[in-house]
Amino acid sequence: MERTVEPELMEREDQVISYAKADFSEGENNFINQINHYLIKNNIHLNKKELIVDLGCGPGNISEKLSIKWPKANVVGIDGSKEMIRIAESKKKNSFNRGQLKNLRYVCADIKSLKSSEIYLKKNISLLVSNSLIHHITYLDDFFNCIERLSSNLTINFHKDLKRPNDEKSALYLKEKCGQKYNNILTNDYYASLKASYTLKELKDFIFENKLSSLEVFEEGDQYLVIYGKV
Ligand SMILES: C[S@@+](CC[C@H](N)C(=O)[O-])C[C@H]1O[C@@H](n2cnc3c(N)ncnc32)[C@H](O)[C@@H]1O
Repeated sequence: MERTVEPELMEREDQVISYAKADFSEGENNFINQINHYLIKNNIHLNKKELIVDLGCGPGNISEKLSIKWPKANVVGIDGSKEMIRIAESKKKNSFNRGQLKNLRYVCADIKSLKSSEIYLKKNISLLVSNSLIHHITYLDDFFNCIERLSSNLTINFHKDLKRPNDEKSALYLKEKCGQKYNNILTNDYYASLKASYTLKELKDFIFENKLSSLEVFEEGDQYLVIYGKV
């Protein structure tokens, strides 16, 4: 199936509210466990006020989980949508865990023009993550240029995203399954996201052609892609 680009930022209020209200906790917990497993396997400890950055953080679900999992690190969630950042800030303020979220802050910025200095990152980033961001980015160069700009040679990258289905029939099947659980706004957004996603081959080819061979890409189940390693 050909890729159909979707708008990068999620800015419509109804879209942001639907997304923020949905429960994606199972997938989010898996993502955190996956990162933790990778760090343990590589003997990496995030405990000395190190810096974790969550790109395209949306309502901050993953950012909050990162902040609780690694309480000694500083966590910065970044999103280009003012509405998403407004919701993320409000969730943090009203969270039962707000006492634990003191190490978390949010910045509204577009990843295409983001520089470490602009977001007052005085430290090198130890862990750079994103979840469900890559398919929003129109050109892959913009995503990879961003992670290259922000990463040092010690930064661990971990990025998870949807995988584009092989054909329209498979996309419609996934859309229908989504519709059984979530409202119409979210289901239509999910369908648009599936069509905007990249394939394993597109990501692998990009990494190969741009000599980013320290990054690995793999398929997780039949719906997700994960990129990890160093740039
Ligand atoms: C599908 S949401 C994922 C949110 C969150 N990572 C999660 O897993 O719940 C994608 C987010 O990426 C943001 N985004 C898309 N393009 C962006 C860009 N160029 N710069 C910054 N944020 C962007 C959108 O505004 C949206 O909030």
